[in-house]
Amino acid sequence: MTNTQKYKSLERFRLDEKVVVVTGGTGILGSLYCKRLSEAGAKVVIADLDKLKCQQLADEINALPGCFAIAMDVDLTNEQSVITWSQRIIEAFGVVDVLFNNAAAKSLNFFAPLDNFPLEDWNKVMAVNVTGMFLASRELGAFMAKQGKGSIINVSSVYGVVGPDQRIYEGSWYEEMGGAINTPLIYSATKGAVIAMTRYMATYWGPKGVRTNTLTPGGVSSGQNSLFNEKYSARVPLGRMAEAEEMVGAVLFLSSDASSYINGQNIIVDGGWTAW
Ligand SMILES: NC(=O)c1ccc[n+]([C@@H]2O[C@H](COP(=O)([O-])OP(=O)(O)OC[C@H]3O[C@@H](n4cnc5c(N)ncnc54)[C@H](O)[C@@H]3O)[C@@H](O)[C@H]2O)c1
Repeated sequence: MTNTQKYKSLERFRLDEKVVVVTGGTGILGSLYCKRLSEAGAKVVIADLDKLKCQQLADEINALPGCFAIAMDVDLTNEQSVITWSQRIIEAFGVVDVLFNNAAAKSLNFFAPLDNFPLEDWNKVMAVNVTGMFLASRELGAFMAKQGKGSIINVSSVYGVVGPDQRIYEGSWYEEMGGAINTPLIYSATKGAVIAMTRYMATYWGPKGVRTNTLTPGGVSSGQNSLFNEKYSARVPLGRMAEAEEMVGAVLFLSSDASSYINGQNIIVDGGWTAW
């Protein structure tokens, strides 16, 4: 193959036949990622807690022309569940091209103030955002290293990069989240850990041909009240919250061969929030 054929520009962004595992695959962003990844040609493994939701999304995707997805539920906080789940994926496909560590937890008292934030909630979020990411990466990252190729995408947040501006939460409201919202310390702690985990995995598995990068989204508009939206938007150089679709370009890029020399980096998609 000549270099011109090998590097034919847009072809390098295609994901044809790539097996892409998406944790948190039925969430607000995860479900969109699964759709867009399958439209780009990937065989998508939808991984989340609720088996039925995974299957419903797989059915929806499989009804689209040329798209393929399979439901494989997992509890990332349960070691045996992650081991069995990884084995099922490996047995089903024999190859794993992308592990997209996108899952994150919100505990019962997630928005409690730091002054009396329950330890139980701290441990629950840690168990998914950090330990779950470790377990999924240990199982599937090690397999990718053996196969000699792969891309791991770990999802952080702007609050893993900078501290939250606490002022924007006064008067915030998000019906689906049960009321007033904020960013708890455990969220920042786990999302900061994600960036460190990426750098570690990048140097550890890089020599085996496995790239690891962080995707850092800024705030995505998904039902927050208008006061919160206004206050958040005023802090963003682009002057608005992100649309979920605006995360997809970076996801496709990091999943595809177009990013074949990008390893250990943090792709920040935040409209400039962290640029001030
Ligand atoms: N939405 C945003 O504005 C935003 C901003 C920055 C970063 N992020 C990050 O993007 C990712 C996706 O966010 P989202 O808004 O779609 O969140 P979401 O809460 O809608 O989705 C997270 C998914 O993870 C799953 N999950 C939780 N615990 C699990 C477990 N033990 N095992 C398996 N799956 C489990 C949940 O069931 C859920 O479907 C998260 O990592 C989040 O922190 C989101």
